[in-house]
Amino acid sequence: MTIADGKFVVTGGASLIGSHVAEELLARGAREVVLLDNYALGSPDVVKDLIGNPRIKLVRGDILCINELYDAFEGTDGVFAIAGFLTLPLSQNPSLGLAVNVEGQVNIFEACRYRGVKRVVFSSSVATYGDPAPGLIDETRPTNLATFQPAAALYACTKIIGENLCKLYSARYGIGAIALRYATVYGERQHYRGVNALYIMENYDRILRGEPPVIPDDGSEVHDYIHVADVARANVMAMASDVTGESFNVATGVATSLNRIVELLVQITGTRLKPVHKANTAAVRASATAQLDFSRAKIETMLGWKPEVSIEEGIRRLIAWRQREDAAIGRKPAA
Ligand SMILES: NC(=O)c1ccc[n+]([C@@H]2O[C@H](COP(=O)([O-])OP(=O)(O)OC[C@H]3O[C@@H](n4cnc5c(N)ncnc54)[C@H](O)[C@@H]3O)[C@@H](O)[C@H]2O)c1
Repeated sequence: MTIADGKFVVTGGASLIGSHVAEELLARGAREVVLLDNYALGSPDVVKDLIGNPRIKLVRGDILCINELYDAFEGTDGVFAIAGFLTLPLSQNPSLGLAVNVEGQVNIFEACRYRGVKRVVFSSSVATYGDPAPGLIDETRPTNLATFQPAAALYACTKIIGENLCKLYSARYGIGAIALRYATVYGERQHYRGVNALYIMENYDRILRGEPPVIPDDGSEVHDYIHVADVARANVMAMASDVTGESFNVATGVATSLNRIVELLVQITGTRLKPVHKANTAAVRASATAQLDFSRAKIETMLGWKPEVSIEEGIRRLIAWRQREDAAIGRKPAA
């Protein structure tokens, strides 16, 4: 599919990932980008710097109300199915979270069928692997939910359902659908809803308040932090491709420890505060391991995507964005 001159709908458009997908679509010459969001979690403020663009249309809409999708999807070439509840908000409101992640996705596919939308790119997650055993994790790895916390397991199940909806609607109705399994996404417009990216935000806030950064346990827990600009590029490349019915890891393949994250925050902010170690008491957690190795081979071969933003550069960009936001509202670091 050609991106230039196309019309695209981003469900959950007022989100971390949706806002960056919109920027990437604009950069690739899309004619119209509809950001559809009911602001259950995001807000119009998240996309304040995009709203003035004449090719951006912000629409208040709920993926649980199929009639609102029928309206928004008219004349649409492709849909980025990004609206969803992450593990943390899902744990706080399971009834709504499960409905949005499951029934909402069914509505998206039904509305696509009704409106003749040709392609869907679905935001899935590496949570679909559950707690994987050590070794290279490629897309053939079976799910292991045996040791996953209940909220994380429920979230993983909703993404497995979403991926199978992609396959079902692809096979039965010819809607080209791809699922992208993101690792830990972070970057500019970062929120506090991602259990792993939360370590970055909470420690940045501590430093701002003049409190020492806290490293959970011995800091050896690792995550694969993927910058949101890379995730947005993967989305648009998936939309542009002819591949259908497939799932892809969207990860760097690099495991970064919490020790390293805090080290970077200390370096970039220039704080003299010394980090302290504390037992991790977080009630909701995703996989917590000291070894993680996601394969990038499938997405490199089939879509030609590779990550471009290193963790050092990505954290620098995230902090620069926070500093601009803080300056705009007059929030200053503690002396
Ligand atoms: N952030 C990550 O690390 C990560 C990792 C893996 C997968 N994902 C998936 O990517 C997607 C986006 O993640 P994010 O971090 O940008 O999320 P986010 O929490 O910033 O955004 C989700 C958006 O969906 C909207 N939304 C919720 N219910 C809705 C409804 N009924 N109708 C319309 N909009 C609704 C919210 O208001 C919000 O703007 C989610 O589906 C998430 O599960 C994210």
